[in-house]
Amino acid sequence: AGKVFNFKLVLLGESAVGKSSLVMRFVKDQFDDFRESTIGAAFFTQSVPVDDNTTVKFEIWDTAGQERYKSLAPMYYRNAQCAVVVYDITQAASFEKAKNWVKELQRQADPDIVIALVGNKNDLASRRAVTTDESQAYANEAHLLFQEASAKTGANVNELFKSIAKKMPLE
Ligand code: GTP
Ligand code: MG
Repeated sequence: AGKVFNFKLVLLGESAVGKSSLVMRFVKDQFDDFRESTIGAAFFTQSVPVDDNTTVKFEIWDTAGQERYKSLAPMYYRNAQCAVVVYDITQAASFEKAKNWVKELQRQADPDIVIALVGNKNDLASRRAVTTDESQAYANEAHLLFQEASAKTGANVNELFKSIAKKMPLE
């Protein structure tokens, strides 16, 4: 039997970028075209095998992106060891919001927090408003993991969580 390491992970980002959809894809391998906006926050767990003797179990807080819930966010990121900051590749404003979340995390969260930036809705390439180069450059500069993904098709969703798991202190 191997070792299991638990980490608290928080998802942040503007409403409707697909935070809950990414979690549903990761936890249940499901997608819903008409998902309801999250109220407050929702909690999930999911494990990722890192190697033959190591498993990372994420305790996931899926926060609500609507403006009226903004003041709750610090409660969820304060003791998080990892954060997934999501934007929608078809909505430039959501990328600006994501950058603001990164800044807030880098100022207020645990200094060792592992942050992943995720451009979701990668299946909507014809409506793209944020280039991969721009996001990758920002992610490099801000020392973030970066993935473009699609909760709808499942592209890069498991890869995203696995890349975070590999970055965590496993000892
Ligand atoms: P809040 O809970 O309000 O913060 O929103 P959220 O970020 O959790 O977004 P949610 O997962 O509810 O998704 C919003 C809408 O986008 C839903 O109608 C989803 O079906 C759709 N959606 C989510 N991910 C994708 C994706 O990868 N591709 C496409 N085409 N649509 C997506
Ligand atoms: Mg949601």
